[in-house]
Amino acid sequence: MLDAVAPAALDYLESLPERRVHPESDYARARAALDHGLPAAGTDPAQVVADLARDLQPLVTAHASGRFFGFVIGGLHPASWGAELLVSTWDQNAGLFPPTPGVAVAEELAAEWLVDLLRLPPDSSVGFVTGGQMATFTCLAAARDQVLRAVGWDVEADGLVGAPAVTVVLKEGVHSTVPRALRFLGLGERSAVFVPCDEQDRVVPEALQQALRTVAGPTIITVESGNVNTGSFDDFGAVADLADAHRAAGNPTWVHVDGAVMLLAAAAPSMTEHVRGLDRLDSWSTDGHKLLNTAYDCGVAICRHQAAHRAAMSIEASYLEQGTGARDPMDWNPEFSRRARGVSVYAALRSLGRHSVDDIVTRTVRMARMFADGLRASDRAQIVNEVVSNQVLVRWLAAHGDTARVTDAVMAGVRAEGVAFFSGTTFRGERLMRISVSDWATDEDDVRRVLDALLRHAALATA
Ligand SMILES: Cc1ncc(COP(=O)(O)O)c(C=O)c1O
Repeated sequence: MLDAVAPAALDYLESLPERRVHPESDYARARAALDHGLPAAGTDPAQVVADLARDLQPLVTAHASGRFFGFVIGGLHPASWGAELLVSTWDQNAGLFPPTPGVAVAEELAAEWLVDLLRLPPDSSVGFVTGGQMATFTCLAAARDQVLRAVGWDVEADGLVGAPAVTVVLKEGVHSTVPRALRFLGLGERSAVFVPCDEQDRVVPEALQQALRTVAGPTIITVESGNVNTGSFDDFGAVADLADAHRAAGNPTWVHVDGAVMLLAAAAPSMTEHVRGLDRLDSWSTDGHKLLNTAYDCGVAICRHQAAHRAAMSIEASYLEQGTGARDPMDWNPEFSRRARGVSVYAALRSLGRHSVDDIVTRTVRMARMFADGLRASDRAQIVNEVVSNQVLVRWLAAHGDTARVTDAVMAGVRAEGVAFFSGTTFRGERLMRISVSDWATDEDDVRRVLDALLRHAALATA
């Protein structure tokens, strides 16, 4: 099997620096390449995998290319890649400690290292989940548990019917995974109170204070470390002060930080000013598969309040081997059977060390600024956000204000050429291009080459 896999895998990884980022493919081509019908008789596994490599590899998008800047998609650190191969080979069900103590300990260490690296409260609990969405879900489940328990309601036992109301205070423009988590948790999107943000999509502390004055009882607030559009950070110190005051006024309060994009900034001394006060909050969600550059899928849910985290997630069954005193991964995440995805984090952190994690953060921010400077200097584009982290918002200029058309034409042009991949957004009602530098491999040469292509396509679009 490795003979079938290794050449394709090596060919793919070695091709990344020069490979087309987006394949020349569409639905019809993918169906034609892959739809061989469900066979009646079996086929040799190695043959199937060789066929898969032949048929599917040309259709794969190079998410791990240093020239992929769409959505917020990290690259693939070699240590994580190698660890993932082993994790697949070992095929462990990493829900409990007793059947698989080794990987449970690797995940425990990855959890401890992350909490240390991110300078979060040392007793924080950690769950390895599939991504930022499920990390937010996990943290908000713990939040719901804690704020309701504080008013005498056991939501785990009694559910939400008849429960005291929980008010969730969100930012206007909050990432859509947060309201989705509220749906999953029975809190409902409509229960949310929305607080205005400034032009960088940072919550306005005075507006939050105003909103909290109208809220009584169990309260959950969410803020962001790395906004998906602007890359901005909320003022965590101010939010922590307001939460403390709200709590002191008798309202059980929990503040969650969606750090899918940039929780890792807490590991970089150059970003200290942006994350001040982060460690005073209650829970944090982030992704391994974004800036840490682990393989998909890997998210991390971190809670200051271990008991609430565990109460929201843990599970018992007569046939399980529990209560050994060791960390059972299934106590900290919503899955039962699960992949040992924390092993990939263990490997990435061991290989990178503190310094290279810091380097990934600082370098991606530097590359984002290089994009912004190059585009500004061209007179063809404006940079809409303050580039404080790894996200850039670009307005392509056009003669008759037709910026949306030029934006889409530029993104489509570079994508079709295969040189890079960008995705767009609607920010304050305006169609813009986003640049998300999230790959450890992106370097100055990539940025120069892609800037050149962007400006070429902008010239074509406005000719
Ligand atoms: C701010 C923010 N939160 C949450 C998510 C969801 O993360 P995931 O796709 O890993 O579930 C994203 C994804 O880009 C994001 O940008």
